[in-house]
Amino acid sequence: MTSAKKAFDRLPNTVVPSNYQIRLHPNLTAFTFDGTEEISVEVKNATDTIIVNSADIAVQEVTFSVKGKTDKVTGNVSFDVDNEKASFKFPVPLPIGEGVLSIKFTGELNDKMKGFYRSSYTSPDGQETHAAVTQFEVAAVTMFCATDARRAFPCWDEPAIKATFDITLVVPKDKIALSNMPIIHGNPLKDNADLIEVKYATTPIMSTYLLAFIVGDYDFVEGKDKDGVLVRVYTPVGKKEQGQFALEVAVKTLPFYKNYFGIAYPLPKIDLIAIADFSAGAMENWGLVTYRETALLVDPKNTSAHVRQWVALVVGHELAHQWFGNLVTMEWWTHLWLNEGFASWIEYLCVDHCFPEYDIWTQFVNQDMGRALELDALHNSHPIEVPVGHPSEVDEIFDAISYSKGASVIRMLHDYIGDEHFRKGMNHYLTKHAYKNTFTEDLWASLEEASQKPVGEMMTTWTKQMGFPVIKVEEKQEGTIRTVTISQSKFCADGILPKGDKSLWMVPVSICTSNSPAKPVQTVVLKEASSTITLNNIKPEDWIKVNSGSVGVYRVQYSSEALDRLIPAIKDKTLPPRDRLGLESDLFALARAGMISTVDVLKVAQAYINEDNYTVWSDLSTNLSSIAILLQYTDSYPQFQTFIRDLFRPISQKVGWDTKQNESPLIAMLRDLAITKMGRNGDKEILKEATKRFEDHVNGTKVLPADLRKPVYITVLSSANEETFNKMLQVYEEADMQEEKVRISRSLGSVRDEELIKKVLDFSLSEKVRSQDSVFVLASVTGTVRGRQLAWKFVQDKWSELHDRYKGGFLLSRLVKSTTENFVTEEDAKNVEEFFKANPAPAAERTVQQSCENVRLNARCLERDGKALENWLKSKK
Ligand code: BES
Ligand code: ZN
Repeated sequence: MTSAKKAFDRLPNTVVPSNYQIRLHPNLTAFTFDGTEEISVEVKNATDTIIVNSADIAVQEVTFSVKGKTDKVTGNVSFDVDNEKASFKFPVPLPIGEGVLSIKFTGELNDKMKGFYRSSYTSPDGQETHAAVTQFEVAAVTMFCATDARRAFPCWDEPAIKATFDITLVVPKDKIALSNMPIIHGNPLKDNADLIEVKYATTPIMSTYLLAFIVGDYDFVEGKDKDGVLVRVYTPVGKKEQGQFALEVAVKTLPFYKNYFGIAYPLPKIDLIAIADFSAGAMENWGLVTYRETALLVDPKNTSAHVRQWVALVVGHELAHQWFGNLVTMEWWTHLWLNEGFASWIEYLCVDHCFPEYDIWTQFVNQDMGRALELDALHNSHPIEVPVGHPSEVDEIFDAISYSKGASVIRMLHDYIGDEHFRKGMNHYLTKHAYKNTFTEDLWASLEEASQKPVGEMMTTWTKQMGFPVIKVEEKQEGTIRTVTISQSKFCADGILPKGDKSLWMVPVSICTSNSPAKPVQTVVLKEASSTITLNNIKPEDWIKVNSGSVGVYRVQYSSEALDRLIPAIKDKTLPPRDRLGLESDLFALARAGMISTVDVLKVAQAYINEDNYTVWSDLSTNLSSIAILLQYTDSYPQFQTFIRDLFRPISQKVGWDTKQNESPLIAMLRDLAITKMGRNGDKEILKEATKRFEDHVNGTKVLPADLRKPVYITVLSSANEETFNKMLQVYEEADMQEEKVRISRSLGSVRDEELIKKVLDFSLSEKVRSQDSVFVLASVTGTVRGRQLAWKFVQDKWSELHDRYKGGFLLSRLVKSTTENFVTEEDAKNVEEFFKANPAPAAERTVQQSCENVRLNARCLERDGKALENWLKSKK
């Protein structure tokens, strides 16, 4: 497998760069670029060959000269296309010592959203226009360990081969041209007055994957943070107000990190820019952070609370990388999880600081921890730290394990050693390794030194070992003393522990009780298979909740008596929100694993009838949807929908349709959630009101506020005929903001009519939808049985087009996951496996296995609990 080979194939270190002088001249009409480089290198061992990374680049000339001498030797160029390398062979061995490698080259501004590429947009005068932009960190799985700076200029394209860079861009004089550092001068070209040569200040010592160049038309807003760092947010022309929110977040965030890490942001400026065609969500290039439009732009009238919050999180994430990732960089991609896991944790810390009203840490439990626990319970999961060199393990560095499990174990660690020690350790780590590279162990060492706790020992159990434990809780009451026995074993999504599995974790276990619901009364570190804890002064009817605040990365299983004691605390909400959320989340997972009955879990779900917390509802809603998927294949689905409507009606009535004064953004999100749930499940009253509001919106009588649009669109589309569908498409066409287009296109798949479903599928690949959004539009039809079948058929029919479009990218995995994982029969699982056997997609190999595992889980679950669920649901009427 070539991808595996690449993992090992590092560049020789006989010649290493220290500074690159790079001059690039992109041509925005021919979509090509010319470049020259002068690289200061050190020849460490005499050699006649220099090997660098280079991909899709034509090299016209290579010369070498000894530093300070004018004599040049010309090298012979050859390429190793598979390994994306160029070798320059010189007629004589190059002498040990300093030298200059000069290269003349040309390349293509590709349309693949990677390397140096073109992005297209409509300028305010209606012209189709292009920008040249870069994305050098690679999400493409088959290119494991590669980065794409090599598509812009030949270089030592490895994160540990750091150097300084002097960039010059030659651009049309009316364009904005940006790079990592501020401009030092822009001079008109002597032989062409329409072009200017823009030179940027020297970068600090840095990795190639963090460089960026952008040439295009943009407006900006600017500000300074409290330390005088110049912050600009670049937006499409005419939309600079939409950069204001991100600017405010960035200006608050930089000092927050400076204070948290105890280290100033090292560059004089930072730009945040929205790029029309962008494959990831955002990218942390040092001093020039790139974003999808929907991850950066906020419009007071058109942006939902949810998107504002998302923008804040993404800005918080990418700015954290400026320290963690850019200043200190992982040595190799196997340690990448730490980069992403850490940033995915601290983005919450930062948003919590800037926007306490989002109660963002509760959302963490739902978002990141929930996702991590779900994926990591599968037999086809993998450890956070992927052992180097296993060919089947090359495609897993950018999945939810790195991001969400990574973030979750860091949250657990932060809680275990405490904020003060954590900060001290971070400062130690970032100071000690500034401008250098690290291994995961280096972070543990710093945190261990700061806290004097066994950080490395504990974290290794979480990062080198796949999965996480389920903690079984057994209680015995004697007088006013309760003895609690906790025991751990690996939690498996299907409840079946692989033979001989003896995995143990170092688990911080905290317990709260009715007498102290929010503050743990005891915390122990469970290392062995089981341990006993004694609680004093506790009455027989008092409840205990293990995993206080849902900080620990594990599931908890109680006896049914213990669970019964907790029910009143759910109803009266004396159990805090994160615990209410964790509790139901664990129960659904245990039921799916066959460890408790699904009917019993639905009974517990009814105790949430008085719930008023957005995040708890959101988690519960997702879990109920996974039961809905199973019941869609039975006769009792209508009864289940009634059950859902009955559960969500009180809260949907409580939040109502209209915003109240000084309402928290969480209420806006809750309203969206409750109405969407009712609407999707066919509530007549909701449909009536949504239809009316939709008509008013379309007619221009009364514009829908941003937070109501998704629930109204989904409700209306759920029972749409062609006329309504066309109206929706019209709104899509007229929408100016990407957020609105994305909102509509991801709602379209709610249609039920077969012909309309097919239209949505065709629409997803039409030129009306940007390539980066298609997958989500396509996935939006998979909520119904028919939609699911049609989407999968569509994917198979269009496989070569789709595969070609997304190749090794994570969008391909996303596509595969969403169109396959919700089937419910063994036959479906086989069918999916066979398709990918005949049409291999190495980048999505593990996703296919995970999807099929999920399908088989669905099948087992339905077989096991289907009848009981049907009986229970029918008996309710
Ligand atoms: N460095 C990543 C983006 C990335 C990863 C690009 C891998 C190419 C390959 C960036 O910091 C990131 O994590 N972006 C996220 C958004 C974030 C808020 C979770 C993304 O793009 O989804
Ligand atoms: Zn990141």
